[in-house]
Amino acid sequence: MVDRHDLYEACVQSPPEMTLMLRAIHGDQPHVLGEDFAGTAALSRHWVASVPNGSAIAVDLDAGELGRAGVTPGVRTVVADVHKVSDPVDCLFVGNFSIGYLHTRDELMSYLRHAQSRMKPGGIFVCDTYGGESAYHLGSVDRDVALPGGLRCVYRWEQREADPLTAMVTDVLHFRVFDVDEVVADFPDAYVYHWRLWSVPELRDAMIEAGFATTDIYSNLPDAVDDAGNAYAEPITDPDWLGDSFIVCVAGRTG
Ligand SMILES: C[S@@+](CC[C@H](N)C(=O)[O-])C[C@H]1O[C@@H](n2cnc3c(N)ncnc32)[C@H](O)[C@@H]1O
Repeated sequence: MVDRHDLYEACVQSPPEMTLMLRAIHGDQPHVLGEDFAGTAALSRHWVASVPNGSAIAVDLDAGELGRAGVTPGVRTVVADVHKVSDPVDCLFVGNFSIGYLHTRDELMSYLRHAQSRMKPGGIFVCDTYGGESAYHLGSVDRDVALPGGLRCVYRWEQREADPLTAMVTDVLHFRVFDVDEVVADFPDAYVYHWRLWSVPELRDAMIEAGFATTDIYSNLPDAVDDAGNAYAEPITDPDWLGDSFIVCVAGRTG
């Protein structure tokens, strides 16, 4: 039977798309991925399976989460705080709003300086965040996701608390699994996050202050993928390209 980790991977993550995105944003031939706040290291596992000569270093504080990655050739898992790992990388990714674990600007700066110090020549740092008119609204959004074996999951993303004075939010993931119409597993409050919601300009300013040469904003999915499987991602330069509410990737480049 599925557990909450399986459901997180099925409903929340898109390693194939994010692998293509990171390669497109990098723009050359990245080999080494750093996945910080990695959870189950799903992106790292996909990276080594699909990138020629790819290797990955996945870091998470939670041994239970990271243990789910098992032993994958080419993937090194490290149970530690993200500041403790210094290996150089071509792409360093912080996904699913995990940059919000850094609650103060001092913590954000300390982490971004560390991230910058890990960049190989041409390296990129990418994290995601959300914004727009609903960023501080309370409520939930449901999505239906097909699971193996004919099951389906109703995945609910809830914003339970949101304080625009402090930018602290509480976001909660719930999963309910159905076999046709019968509920066969239920995970209310499967993951509860207390995050600082960093805005796009706050992240850009902090990246430049940490030593990145330039920053760009991208969608969280590739704009196009050609027949050879290469993705194209165009920086977002016009606010009209964003919807009223949006999820974006913020990328820092070493030069
Ligand atoms: C929202 S999950 C993200 C998992 C994955 N990156 C993804 O894209 O879905 C955040 C993870 O960050 C980890 N985490 C939080 N603070 C951390 C820290 N200071 N160092 C390493 N991992 C941390 C948590 O244990 C949790 O597994």
